[in-house]
Amino acid sequence: MPIPVIMDVDTGIDDALALLFAVAHPQIDVIGVTCVAGNAGLEQVVDNTLRVLDLAGAADVPVAGGASRPLIAPARAASHVHGADGLGGIVLPESGRNAADESAVALMRRLIMQHPTPVTLIALAPQTNLALLLRTHPEVVERIERIVFMGGSASVGNATAVAEFNVWHDPEAAAIVRDAGAPTVMYGLDVFNRVTVQQARADELAAGSHRVGRIVGQLLGHRVALSEDESLTYTGLIGDAGAVCAIVAPELVRFENLPVRVELSGYGRGQTIVDRRPFAGEDRLHGLDDEWSRSDVALDIHADAVADLFVQTVLSLPGE
Ligand code: BDR
Ligand code: CA
Repeated sequence: MPIPVIMDVDTGIDDALALLFAVAHPQIDVIGVTCVAGNAGLEQVVDNTLRVLDLAGAADVPVAGGASRPLIAPARAASHVHGADGLGGIVLPESGRNAADESAVALMRRLIMQHPTPVTLIALAPQTNLALLLRTHPEVVERIERIVFMGGSASVGNATAVAEFNVWHDPEAAAIVRDAGAPTVMYGLDVFNRVTVQQARADELAAGSHRVGRIVGQLLGHRVALSEDESLTYTGLIGDAGAVCAIVAPELVRFENLPVRVELSGYGRGQTIVDRRPFAGEDRLHGLDDEWSRSDVALDIHADAVADLFVQTVLSLPGE
């Protein structure tokens, strides 16, 4: 049986790649998609998400809009990364439908409680919607198989020197999600930054005859800026899509179950501290042992194999 998933996205170039991959993969059943502000404003994210699902032939998957800003922090733009429209200026045909009337929280709750088996949440964005769900309807935890999130880092950050964008954008939400009691899988920058499709392959896709492949090639070809002044850019990153690949091909990823905490103050705000010590240390002695919860943390990845899996899978979508 395919794995039932709800995807929470801020579409976003790599969220778009993740949606296409998830819809295409036979081991995944996308039962709903919820949207949150992050890479672009909420309205734009919803619009992008509907267009991407239409492209994937998944116009029947319900989509709901959620939080337009983080729980506490102000909304912040990421337009230097994904362009003002979130999709790097790549224009997809307008969707023939609107988002559902219900909110992201209501849709997630309904789908989770209705589904006959536990549901996997895939969080590829700031975790505001998930935190609101878990705080409003804690009963869903029993029905959640696990929460697989793109976010955090066991090494360096991107939004700041130590914090990854999704966690940094709404650290309180990330802390709530971590503590809610559902098993969590962290697909952070340590692996996220490594899976790229070669420029030549992306160009080939963009110029090819496959309808979805052409868009994928263009999305992969978008120059992602690593800093606001765009002094360093790169292309080809499958990004969020890697987290979905890790669900269907866990043998391509090395996970370790480790204690993780989210920092909420100072320059470290939004940092995920991953305790990789092989020994217990002195935390208890110093009264610092009460804010950790464990995650399966992705620390290494067979990047080329994951990139191949990604391309092969999206090309299985109808090409006409
Ligand atoms: C994350 O932030 C966004 O730019 C990407 O879509 C990804 O979810 C990486 O830090
Ligand atoms: Ca994202």
